[in-house]
Order: sequence, then structure tokens, then C-alpha cells
Amino acid sequence: MSTLSPRPLTKASPVAERYRHVRATSRELGAPLSDADATVQSMPDASPAKWHLAHTTWFFETMVLKPNLPGYEVFDESFNYLFNSYYETIGERQPRPRRGMITRPHLDTVFDYRDHVDAAVETLLERGASPEVAELVELGCHHEQQHQELLLTDILHLFAQSPLKPAYRDPQPLGVGREPGEARFVSFDGGIVEIGHDGQGFAFDSEGPRHRALLDPYRLADRLVTNGEFIAFIEDGGYRNPLLWLSAGWADILANKWEQPFYWFQRDGEWWTMTLRGAQPVDRNAPVTHLSYFEADAFATWAGKRLPSEFEWENAAAGLSMEGNFAGSGRLRPKPAGPARDGALRQMFGDVWEWTRSPFSPYPRFKPVEGAVGEYNGKFMCGQFVLRGGSCVTPEGHIRATYRNFFPPDARWQFSGLRLAEDA
Ligand SMILES: [Fe+2]
Repeated sequence: MSTLSPRPLTKASPVAERYRHVRATSRELGAPLSDADATVQSMPDASPAKWHLAHTTWFFETMVLKPNLPGYEVFDESFNYLFNSYYETIGERQPRPRRGMITRPHLDTVFDYRDHVDAAVETLLERGASPEVAELVELGCHHEQQHQELLLTDILHLFAQSPLKPAYRDPQPLGVGREPGEARFVSFDGGIVEIGHDGQGFAFDSEGPRHRALLDPYRLADRLVTNGEFIAFIEDGGYRNPLLWLSAGWADILANKWEQPFYWFQRDGEWWTMTLRGAQPVDRNAPVTHLSYFEADAFATWAGKRLPSEFEWENAAAGLSMEGNFAGSGRLRPKPAGPARDGALRQMFGDVWEWTRSPFSPYPRFKPVEGAVGEYNGKFMCGQFVLRGGSCVTPEGHIRATYRNFFPPDARWQFSGLRLAEDA
């Protein structure tokens, strides 16, 4: 984490404003949901919306209020068990695959819990918070934004299980975007480059320390791989050719009978997909999404290319403006690329998280921060791959060129796709 301004915080402080904005956004995300929608857990990896709304609140209560606001009264002692996610240093917790058993408290009570904690955080900030406390509030805001994205991907997974294929929001079909044309490859010299966050502004601990990396010359596609390109892979027997697949991926194909991206299905001879706007025809011009690492890698092999490393991606993204199709657009689906411009990368931010070939590992001299929040990232640096760039359900202002998302290689329910790379 970085350091923030040492001056005392007031009601109008940036951290207080940011806190209010993030908390209000979560409330808006929960608004279309019934108590039943918000309670059911559709698979062990997905959490109920109610749990996301309560857990993010528990994070502020546990990490910020209890240690720093004298006289703070805990809303409900049992919530420490119900809504702790994975913090061993904080105690026992409801097992992750059984979060859907939490039929009580009611969703309304979770919103009361949010009000209770919000009032206490406001009090703390009005009294003037130390830089350390301000940093924790900032971390809590970024943590909550991560859960906002998960709330949406988990609701999508839940609604995809329903025979009614309900729309989370606005069921009208979106217009089909223009054909983006062949991808062009942009060249990068490589050499010794600086990677990682420089400490100016907020970053998660895993984004640093900034360090040097050696890159050979390489090229990156100027746009994301589209659904139309992925359909060509399917029609060419891509899911039936073991030579295209990593061994662990081929085992998943056989075990799970994968034949198309997650959420895709056939209707009247056409590909359709489940979206946050209900079932919709697949837009051939939009970026392909809901791919595992294995599918992304197999597609790249089929195309005669490869996935970029996270360092190649970051080196290319450094200095680009972080504009893109994020959650705030309300589109909630990836969008076809805009017109090509010579030598310019498109869709680097937003639309879909881009799988890289890099394992989620510590950078040189990485040390998790002290205390319970030190469990945030470091202990997950095993068996996962890094994704870069954010998605169409990532909140605005939550992404950076140095941001490292990570998931196991078989994860498919996130908005995950790919950009091709090759050696120069
Ligand atoms: Fe969390």
C-alpha cells in the first residue's frame, strides 16, 4: 500500500468522498435483487450477493472501526463468523462453499448493518484519521470495488442456472457492433524495463515493489480476440484437438465436456450466451469472454501465436489512458473495438480481463504488509495466473496498468478473454 496525505481528514476529504461513493455504488448494485436472489449460492466459487454486501462491511468494521474508533459498538457479534472470508488471524468462519446457507440475516438487515458501519466510519473520519487509518479506509474501498465486480459475476452465474434466464438489468438486446477488422500487431523493443507500482497513489501490495525485468522484442495484437474468431476455432475442431491444449486443460475438457465458452448455448442453429441482460445472441464482433486460461492458451496456439506475459502487457500499457468499457457505462457486456489507429493498442482497459501466461508470484523483495491485511494477496501466490486490464464489470477508477488480478487456470465465470502476442 502507498501512503496518503498526512493531514487530518474532514467530511470533505477525498477519502471520505471516495468512501461514500463506493458504499453507495454497492447499494445500487444490490437494489435489483430480492432476498432470495441475494441468498442463493450457485457454486462454491461464487458467493451470494448478500454475503458480498455484508463481508465488505465486516472488513471496515474489523480492520478500521474496532481498532481505531473507541467505544464502537459491534452491530452483531455473530457476523464475525458469518462474514469473515479467509483471515486466519481473525478467527473461525463459515466455510466458503456453505455461504449460501446463510438465509438469515435477511437482506434488509444487511443493509441496516451497512448503515450502522457507515455512520461509524463517518464519525471516525470527522474526528480526523491518521494516515494509517486513511490507508485502511482506502484499502477497504478498493476491496469493496473488487467485491462489486464479484457480486456481478456471481449474480450472472446464479441467473444462468435459472431456466428463465432472468436479466439482472435491462433485458433489451444491444445493437451489434461494427466489424473490427483484422487485428494488427504492434511491435515493442523489449530490453530492461521497469515493472510494478511506483508508490504514487493507491496500489495493492502485490503490485510492487517496482523492479527491473528483461523482455525480448515482442508484438501485441492491437485488439482483443472476438467471438467471431473464437467461433472459427470451435468450427475448426479446436475443442477436439488435444495437440492444442495444455495437459491439465485437456483433462478439464474430458472431465467437463467443454465444447464452447462458458454460458454459450445453441438456439435455432445460432450461438447465444447468458449475460447480465439475460440470454442474448453472441455478437461476433465483440470480445470473447468467460474463457478459462486453458481455452485462451489453446486458442492462441491454434492461431499460431501465444499469450503475452504480464510484463509484456504492463510495458505496453504504461502511459496509456485508462479509458474503456467499465461497469459505470451500464453496458455490462464487452464492446466491439473502435476504429484501428496505426501503432495504437485498443481495448487495453475494460471489456475483458486478459489472461497472461504469467503465474501470480511475488515480485523481487515483495513482503506482505504487517497484520491481518497481510493475508490479502500474498498467501494466494500459488497455482494462479495473472489477468490484466479490467473488464466491463470493473468499477471505474479501480484499474491501473500495474493491477494484477489472478484466478486459477480453470476459472471461467469471470469476464476473462485474451489478446494475442508473438515474438518479434
Ligand atoms: Fe474480501
